[in-house]
Amino acid sequence: MEGVSLSKSLFLELAVMICVLGVLGRSVMAQDKSKLTLDYYDKSCPNAQPIVRKEMDCAVRENPRNAAAILRLHFHDCFVQGCDGSVLLEDTATLTGEKTASQNVNSLIGFHLVDRIKTQLEGECPGVVSCADLLAIAARDAVLLVGGPYWDVPVGRLDSKTASLELANIDIPNPNQNLVALISKFISKGLSPQDMVALVGSHTIGMARCLNFRDRIYGDFAATSQPNLGSLAYLNKLQSICPESGHDSKISPMDYVSPNVFDNVFFESLLKGEGLLNSDQEMYSSLVGFETADLVKTYSMDPLIFFKHFSDAMVKMGNITNPEGGEVRTNCRYVNT
Ligand code: HEM
Repeated sequence: MEGVSLSKSLFLELAVMICVLGVLGRSVMAQDKSKLTLDYYDKSCPNAQPIVRKEMDCAVRENPRNAAAILRLHFHDCFVQGCDGSVLLEDTATLTGEKTASQNVNSLIGFHLVDRIKTQLEGECPGVVSCADLLAIAARDAVLLVGGPYWDVPVGRLDSKTASLELANIDIPNPNQNLVALISKFISKGLSPQDMVALVGSHTIGMARCLNFRDRIYGDFAATSQPNLGSLAYLNKLQSICPESGHDSKISPMDYVSPNVFDNVFFESLLKGEGLLNSDQEMYSSLVGFETADLVKTYSMDPLIFFKHFSDAMVKMGNITNPEGGEVRTNCRYVNT
């Protein structure tokens, strides 16, 4: 975590950034939000939502990690050019996709599930439901199917005809950034620190690779966690999965108590100082994170508040649309010809 000497200047820096980026973020949100509605497909594809639900139900029964895969795809979609399906595009002779971005490569999974759902949607109402909407609905279903909250998903997004590898490398947060950098990334998307902490609660499901938690378990894990047998045993286990070098793709859950259930246990692990990623633990242990630490405490005590803030933040994140407009792709991996 940051040194005490840094805290004052970081505070000022953060305050300025919040003012500047907050205004920017709000104007982006205000401009884009109006296009999405709850009844967008009511006439053109009334079965769109049941189709997505059925496919997600099968996928999550097959493997609960599929829920995590889809939720993360939606997040990585929305943070780059807005929620426009850009994350799904393959590299071609004329387009460079986002799949090789540092936070995506060898990491994002679940593209085959998107294909599966899209095939069903195209069979029912060809050319109607966008891949970006598919992801937004599927992410909500993913959360619900593993025990999380329900929320209505505003729809009407279009799929981009472009992608941005450059923005994917810049805009998607990485696990070794400090709290100030993380907060500023969310603020630049119109999302508050509260939205961020709630959304990071997504790490109650899914896995991370050794590459992404090595710095944490050979760094300040021992200092943030309690010196008891439970914490030591957990740290030893993590270090046996993830040696100081090699085995980069070995995985471990971010919520080791209930990795397949969307609950608030993840926040309890942060209170114990046992967050798996540096970025997760920053929410509680950063010296400048008064507000975020309070939220972690609140969410760890009250799952209903967590669920409410999470659902609201998911709708807010889903409202970041791409002002460029676009099309409804027939195949989520390629722009229409
Ligand atoms: C501070 C911001 C965030 C950072 C730094 C971050 C970082 C990460 C990292 C490093 C992983 C593991 C990837 C790997 O090792 O291959 C991960 C997994 C995951 N993230 Fe985040 N994340 C953040 C916010 C979010 C948000 C906002 C969501 C959803 C709304 C989300 C959903 C997930 C999910 C579900 C997984 C598990 C994926 C799987 O099991 O395949 N994350 N995240």
